[in-house]
Amino acid sequence: MILTLKNIYNEVLCKLKTNNIETPQLETQIILEHVTNLKLEKIYTNLNKKMYSKKINLIRKLTKRIIAGEPIQYVTGHAFFYSLKFFVSKDVLIPRPESETIVDLALKILESNKYKEVLDLCCGSGCLGIAIYRNCKKKIRVDFSDISKKSMNICLRNIEKHIKTKNYTTYVRDLYGKSSKKYDLIISNPPYVSQSEYLKLDKKILNFEPKAALVSKENGFFLTKKIIKKSVRYLNKNGTLIIEVGKNQANYVKKIFSSLGFDDIVVSKDLNKINRVVAGKWTK
Ligand SMILES: C[S@@+](CC[C@H](N)C(=O)[O-])C[C@H]1O[C@@H](n2cnc3c(N)ncnc32)[C@H](O)[C@@H]1O
Repeated sequence: MILTLKNIYNEVLCKLKTNNIETPQLETQIILEHVTNLKLEKIYTNLNKKMYSKKINLIRKLTKRIIAGEPIQYVTGHAFFYSLKFFVSKDVLIPRPESETIVDLALKILESNKYKEVLDLCCGSGCLGIAIYRNCKKKIRVDFSDISKKSMNICLRNIEKHIKTKNYTTYVRDLYGKSSKKYDLIISNPPYVSQSEYLKLDKKILNFEPKAALVSKENGFFLTKKIIKKSVRYLNKNGTLIIEVGKNQANYVKKIFSSLGFDDIVVSKDLNKINRVVAGKWTK
């Protein structure tokens, strides 16, 4: 039997609705756009288009993955962050809208300082460093580092897509590794979830996203503390560290910054008015 785009659209929508998927229409549209390579308006104006069995089979396979609870970004292999399209796989965390707070602040700081050298520490997909590079009005260099080689492979694909110069270096290493290179701006969204909070997270996260990208020892603070303490060796004079924190972590993290002697310590809120980012200047 010949199926049209309309037939397959209705089939997917019906399956997703029957399986209580939260936003069935949106996910149907995303799957169809992804497989047909057509923009949504084109899908709606081509509903009588005949579908080939190869594409139908792929749509059915992807629909099953959505029904099994897999995040749509892993199913399609990409996610949007700061209006840019990034490759993602189960080896990297899906970029979160709240992390755009780091990018906003970094761009402001870059504009008002003579900074050139930036490090995206714990870079995952590379979304933060790439969004900063792409939106910064002046010429900067961005280095990327992550402990996971698999994450770095995804990051490299994203760099290739978005950074058309050679103004970057990538490192697979534990935090700063043994490097002695100094930076004007270090940004980081490290794992900061405690083991007990982790167990309470949504099943979509628990079943599909990499635990090592989320959880940190010492009640979530282990890596955050290490990043801040060590940053003083890797920041140029008057350089800035910006770090993302979990809900209710900002006050404690602010204290770590001030106990080490950072100046101009600021806390920024995300779109949900949660204290999401702490930043400080190293003036020593
Ligand atoms: C919360 S994810 C952030 C990814 C990305 N920056 C983002 O905002 O979407 C944390 C990342 O830190 C990396 N990571 C965990 N422990 C690390 C360590 N000791 N050194 C370097 N990277 C680490 C993980 O592999 C993961 O990619």
